[in-house]
Amino acid sequence: MTDTNARILADYQPSDFAILSTELEFDLADQATRVVNKMHIERITDKAQPLILDGEQLKLISVQLNNIELSESQYQLNETSLTIDTEAQDFILTVITEIDPLNNTALEGLFKSGDAFCTQCEAEGFRRITYYLDRPDVMAKFTTKVIADKKQYPYLLSNGNKIAAGDLANGKHFVTWQDPFLKPCYLFALVAGDFDVLRSSYTTVSGREVALELFVDRGNLPKAEHAMTSLKKSMQWDEQTFGLEYDLDIYMIVAVDFFNMGAMENKGLNVFNSKFVLADQSSATDTDYFNVEAVIAHEYFHNWTGNRVTCRDWFQLSLKEGLTVFRDQQFSGDMHSAAVTRIQNVRVLRAQQFAEDAGPMAHPIRPEKVLEMNNFYTLTVYEKGAEVIRMIHTLLGQDKFRQGMDLYFQRFDGMAVTCDDFVDAMADGSGIDLSQFKRWYSQSGTPELIVKESFDKQQQLFTLTIAQVNKPSKQQTEKQDLLIPIKLELLSDNEKTQHLITLSDSQQKFEFSGYSVKPIVAFLSGFSAPVKVNFPQREQELALIMVKASDAFNRWDAGQQLLTRYIHALVQDADFTLPQDLVVAFKQILTLPGDAALKAEQLTLPSFDELVEQFEQIDPIKLLDALKQIRLFLAQGLASEFHQQFQRLSGRAYQNDGQSIGERALKNVCLAYLSHLSDYQSLTVNQYQNADNMTDTLAALHYQALTASARFSEQIKDFEQKWYQTPLVMDKCFMLQALFADESIFNKLAVLEQHPLFILKNPNRARSLIGAFSHNNPRYFHCLSGRGYRFLAKHVAALNDINPQVASRLITPLIQFKKFDSKRQAMMKTELVNLSQLSNLSRDLKEKLDAALGN
Ligand code: TRP
Ligand code: ZN
Repeated sequence: MTDTNARILADYQPSDFAILSTELEFDLADQATRVVNKMHIERITDKAQPLILDGEQLKLISVQLNNIELSESQYQLNETSLTIDTEAQDFILTVITEIDPLNNTALEGLFKSGDAFCTQCEAEGFRRITYYLDRPDVMAKFTTKVIADKKQYPYLLSNGNKIAAGDLANGKHFVTWQDPFLKPCYLFALVAGDFDVLRSSYTTVSGREVALELFVDRGNLPKAEHAMTSLKKSMQWDEQTFGLEYDLDIYMIVAVDFFNMGAMENKGLNVFNSKFVLADQSSATDTDYFNVEAVIAHEYFHNWTGNRVTCRDWFQLSLKEGLTVFRDQQFSGDMHSAAVTRIQNVRVLRAQQFAEDAGPMAHPIRPEKVLEMNNFYTLTVYEKGAEVIRMIHTLLGQDKFRQGMDLYFQRFDGMAVTCDDFVDAMADGSGIDLSQFKRWYSQSGTPELIVKESFDKQQQLFTLTIAQVNKPSKQQTEKQDLLIPIKLELLSDNEKTQHLITLSDSQQKFEFSGYSVKPIVAFLSGFSAPVKVNFPQREQELALIMVKASDAFNRWDAGQQLLTRYIHALVQDADFTLPQDLVVAFKQILTLPGDAALKAEQLTLPSFDELVEQFEQIDPIKLLDALKQIRLFLAQGLASEFHQQFQRLSGRAYQNDGQSIGERALKNVCLAYLSHLSDYQSLTVNQYQNADNMTDTLAALHYQALTASARFSEQIKDFEQKWYQTPLVMDKCFMLQALFADESIFNKLAVLEQHPLFILKNPNRARSLIGAFSHNNPRYFHCLSGRGYRFLAKHVAALNDINPQVASRLITPLIQFKKFDSKRQAMMKTELVNLSQLSNLSRDLKEKLDAALGN
């Protein structure tokens, strides 16, 4: 292990050197790529510091200072840096290194994805390509010459504009690119390979023509159309919503199969996990289509929020990620149903971000201490970060939010800045004080609101008393009161009134006068703050909110709260009798007119993960049994209604519009309930046989897996044969099998691990089996035999050597052991202790294991 010292936000120091320009030359070869890096460097402080360049896993060939080769005594080299003792003020440093992309299984730096070369430099991957000041506040003008065999690698790509190209000896060729914009090295990209190219163009609002190019594996052209359409929609939305226009003459996107995360916003040359580019009717689900559009938008929006204005240091990651997630969520809401998009975002936040905030890796959206930066690309920085931006949007309102954004770009275009800089610009641009609000950036944990109501009939006065509880954590033993925007609606017989109140103290009273009867409160409309709410409303009130609240989130949430109560009651007492009223309420949702997609959300039970978050500690099997009981209760109570709806919505030819997507979702929710009833077993089997699209195919197989259907093995085999050559669908095939809810799953997993297509080195594939099982098959992951935990730990150990980033993400369910009963905790901890003793333990895993085990 190299550097195990954590970095601290408060220790930030500006660089002593600037890099004015960086000229790179790559001579690509599988195991020995030569990189020439010629930097024009200037000393910008008057300290007599040596120049210390970052570098990891590099073979240094030579160093030249102003064209004179340095001898080994003139520099110092260690595992993580190259130090040059020079007093020069302004000089040219040329560093030549050699790297091995073929054996780079960490997929950071320059690596091979299939037959193509590609790079991933965020956060600190550039230092695996060459020695450099690998920090986002060092911004340079890049020129990149790429040399490779012309036959094997007809396309040679990098950032910016193509300025030269030509043939070379030995069948090689070269292309030179120049990026006119200053950028930090994490936005550098290079791709070389043979592709099919989908070409189009976009005329910006000011009339400039931008060439759009999408590079996919040969044969995949028809699957690229949706991504291209999504890109154009994104470009137009950003012009219309934020007045932001694209700034280069070309925008390229490359899809690759080996990729650690979703996609990367490299200037002018995005690299994408093929999962977020490729889509067609037969191979992609409605959710896949939605996600492709959202990720294309996300990376495109980074061009302004991330690239034109970037981060001063990595602690500021949420500056670009929280803001860009907020922007892509708004975009998705505008393209589809804003209500359903919001509900789905809230589900993710409650299920996963709340869990992170309650676990050992809890951190503020602006972390203060980091060992491995890759560990901080989290739900907290991204999703909670987006909620924090959304609260600013709520506090300022649409117009002032835009004024703040305009000022932000005016002040900071071309600069590397902080979260404080952003909030200051929003405050100055809008004239609204956000000083207390800034605490959201430095405080971890999910606040809880305790809400009490009182009514004075004589005075006709309704009062809400709201307290905020910010529980102390290990890292932060004292927490401060936050500024929390709360939207709510008061429902009474003759009127509905909407209010925005702000809670800034630990407890406040809010009075509403003129009520002769106590109104009913639809609280936290639109989920206006990322908090938990403790507000004991009566069941009849929730039932009323479900139908009467103006805000769709409120209507949905009231239903979820009702369900949650009964699930809690069943956990307490398995003999608890569920009320028939619940069936009545759900029958109403199902049969009254309304948006199908929203109905699908309303009829979906809270997930296991969302529910776990509501307990201090829980026996997972008890919770799963409670969920099963309520599911069966609803299925039996509404069987004929579910069946009727299912019939009504089945057998329609596939269409890709919003209405059809919503109706498919509703139909499949009905099918999900029915699949638990023995009388309806043939429905999933038939749907698999008759489906003309992947959404229906997958739903059919999914419900068979969840109910451990006897027909599953035969139909999944058919599915596998049909899709053997299509990697993204084979990921789904592994995922479906990992969900099989029966004791036999462990034998199945043992067989699947030996499957010729189970390739641990491919992150999508690793996640499709290991991630799917440990995250989405909780009954067997938490099996008291400990086999589930052992299965995960074994693969995490293997991945520690292959790809630490992927290993570190997959370990999540194990480090959240505190939520479960003591028996399970002990077993999970044993696995963590064993992992902590691995030789060669990566920084990534070490940081999480230390946090989890309290070291
Ligand atoms: N900046 C990327 C995004 O949010 C995410 C990212 C960070 C990433 N590190 C990565 C993507 C490593 C792939 C691999 O869009
Ligand atoms: Zn991002």
